[in-house]
Amino acid sequence: MTAIKSGNYSDFVANFKPTLKINSPGRINLIGEHVDYNNGFVLPTAIDKHIVFQFQKTEGEICNVYSATFDTMLTFNINEVSPSEKEWENYVLGVINQIQERGKVVGGFDCIIESYLPMGSGISSSAALECGLAYGLNELFDLGLEKLDIVKIGQKAEHTYVGTQCGIMDQYASVMSKDGHVIQLDCQSIEHQYIPADFGEYKVLLMNTNVSHNLADSAYNTRVAECGSVVKTIAADHNNVASLRDVSLELLNSYKEKLEAVAYQRASYVIEENIRVEKAVAALKANDLVTFGEMMYGSHDGLQNKYEVSCDELDFLVAFSKDYDSILGSRMMGGGFGGCTINLIHQDAIDEFVEAASKAYKEKFNIDLTSFFAKPSEGTAIVTI
Ligand code: GLA
Repeated sequence: MTAIKSGNYSDFVANFKPTLKINSPGRINLIGEHVDYNNGFVLPTAIDKHIVFQFQKTEGEICNVYSATFDTMLTFNINEVSPSEKEWENYVLGVINQIQERGKVVGGFDCIIESYLPMGSGISSSAALECGLAYGLNELFDLGLEKLDIVKIGQKAEHTYVGTQCGIMDQYASVMSKDGHVIQLDCQSIEHQYIPADFGEYKVLLMNTNVSHNLADSAYNTRVAECGSVVKTIAADHNNVASLRDVSLELLNSYKEKLEAVAYQRASYVIEENIRVEKAVAALKANDLVTFGEMMYGSHDGLQNKYEVSCDELDFLVAFSKDYDSILGSRMMGGGFGGCTINLIHQDAIDEFVEAASKAYKEKFNIDLTSFFAKPSEGTAIVTI
């Protein structure tokens, strides 16, 4: 077992005899932001940073889930699971509730969780938490869940216990990713294709703004509702329209007068982003990274100006990157209002860019920027103990 910093729970940690260890990764998304819950296309993959779970079964009904990262313990009866006041606990309890909703029986267990994913950085530590727990319990209690069940359990836990009406992208990427590849996921059919993540001399660099504006959760659900309202209006006349995926720009424009201006603007972003993802995928397959990068910049522009989920810190970094020919594309990543930008940058220019961006960012916001590479990696998996 790794050395875990434990303050109040050192006895628990010292007596822990894990029989199962799981790595559950964070994810990046190259392009296709805020389109998953609109049944569009996304291009995510897991990265080589994880939450690590260790499990042991216990006698009886009491479960102890210890977060080594926060030195805090959640204790509950497996047969009396209900929502908590604490957000992180709801990720755990929500997953168990969803497993039980599927008629599966989970017994008593203990778990230690160590996170190596910076929270609030847009690399989806929440999906990693949900999916790693579901994956581990599936193994520990031989529940017979498929990988797609685990994905859906994670997503539904977030809807029900956490209260974010998220799409399926994060959980899908966390569980289904394949080393060295990105996933082109069709969020309508829930079918995917693996595409080799071959960027030649370019690297995927994440720059963490280290801000997480608390607008994120409420604004997220508002965006989901705004898109839903557009679908409802158009579907009233077109019964083949079930989501924005079924709406062309032309059809949307014919409803411009009937829609709230903001809702129209949101929907036009979503439809355009879907078109960008398709162009980006074609470009990636053709090894045309210049076009791919242009799509990334287009995505950021839409997220900043039409979908309005960016923030000054992210916009600053994306604008800063435009002075560098060695950067083909840059955009905010994930839900927005903070977190990381994702950058496609030539390997020879990385040090110079990171140094200059960090200095300029510190001068402007008085915040330290952190940067790291994202290596396309395997999804949630068992680790040999
Ligand atoms: C969050 C959600 C995802 C997705 C992204 C934005 O990460 O969990 O489902 O909607 O935001 O693309």
